[in-house]
Amino acid sequence: MEYVKLGSTGLDVSRICLGCMTYGVPDRGTHEWTLDEEASRPLIRQALEAGITFFDTANVYSDGTSEEIVGRALADFARRDDIVLATKVHGRMRPGPNGGGLSRKAIMTEIDHSLRRLGTDYVDLYQIHRWDPHTPVEETMEALHDLVKAGKVRYIGASSMYAWQFSKAQYTAERHGWTRFVSMQNHYNLLYREEEREMLPLCADQGVGVLPWSPLARGRLTRDWDTTTERSATDNFGSTLYQEGDRAVVEAVTRIAGDRGVPRAQVALAWLLHQDTVTAPIIGASRPGHIEDAVAAVGLRLSDKEIEELQRPYAPHPIAGH
Ligand SMILES: NC(=O)c1ccc[n+]([C@@H]2O[C@H](COP(=O)([O-])OP(=O)(O)OC[C@H]3O[C@@H](n4cnc5c(N)ncnc54)[C@H](OP(=O)(O)O)[C@@H]3O)[C@@H](O)[C@H]2O)c1
Repeated sequence: MEYVKLGSTGLDVSRICLGCMTYGVPDRGTHEWTLDEEASRPLIRQALEAGITFFDTANVYSDGTSEEIVGRALADFARRDDIVLATKVHGRMRPGPNGGGLSRKAIMTEIDHSLRRLGTDYVDLYQIHRWDPHTPVEETMEALHDLVKAGKVRYIGASSMYAWQFSKAQYTAERHGWTRFVSMQNHYNLLYREEEREMLPLCADQGVGVLPWSPLARGRLTRDWDTTTERSATDNFGSTLYQEGDRAVVEAVTRIAGDRGVPRAQVALAWLLHQDTVTAPIIGASRPGHIEDAVAAVGLRLSDKEIEELQRPYAPHPIAGH
């Protein structure tokens, strides 16, 4: 495994982050395709043994049970100080007023619930899962800064939003002397490259680390276009993200992987790892081979010609995943 600094911080993270949305009680929350605790634990352990030290979850994943499963597994298989643990806040955790969003009340409540579920007294990277148009950004940024000062959170990050929103949050923090976001977790892969227009240049300019989610387009980059899996058949959000024209990109990945004799997942992840702005893709792994491929992708060097071939069939997409 390789380790890099997260953006302009001093924090070391593994070049692969294990996405823990895959791990959670299937009948809790909205992801019926998740693995239960017994099936999840060996994968988390395998990731640790492969040198992955960076783990991403969220309060909303499987109604909090992802945080519980990940917290218990990391306590059993790792030393807390060796791990970079990331979670998120914003999604609705219960019906009714103040059940979600980025108000001071929601943030202060949700961090304590996350810490309890994770079984730790601090989170390394606390990310806002989305922009909250109903809360002044000053309120959100001050509340996040207070969590850092209280020692509950080491660094703060953000996830999918428009570049103008991210920029506004950063200059608001700067103006008040509050903590700035150190990372952007966004939707970026060979099938969705709209982030190259505004968000990625902004992150590069500001020294913000980039953590792409769904780096394999939720599995679409790993198999023939018409194949379905148990997850893809029930992945409602995933079915809104891609379009028929993406088939040509999947075919380019298939060709290059075939020529090299490696699985398609390795080629698609290697492409992301070749992008200067990308710190660590957040992979989803439901089988041991998924982790093996992700680790192998770190060492896979693509030629300029291969990169050009992978990029050429791309057609612009409507903004998706905010
Ligand atoms: N911030 C956000 O809004 C946001 C949104 C989405 C995700 N995330 C984060 O990103 C993480 C990853 O998301 P994701 O699961 O959608 O990522 P992904 O890596 O794009 O997709 C994972 C899926 O791809 C397939 N796959 C993975 N490796 C493979 C391999 N080597 N060979 C064949 N198939 C392979 C599997 O599909 P099958 O199971 O169908 O076989 C697997 O479930 C999440 O866990 C979460 O932490 C964040």
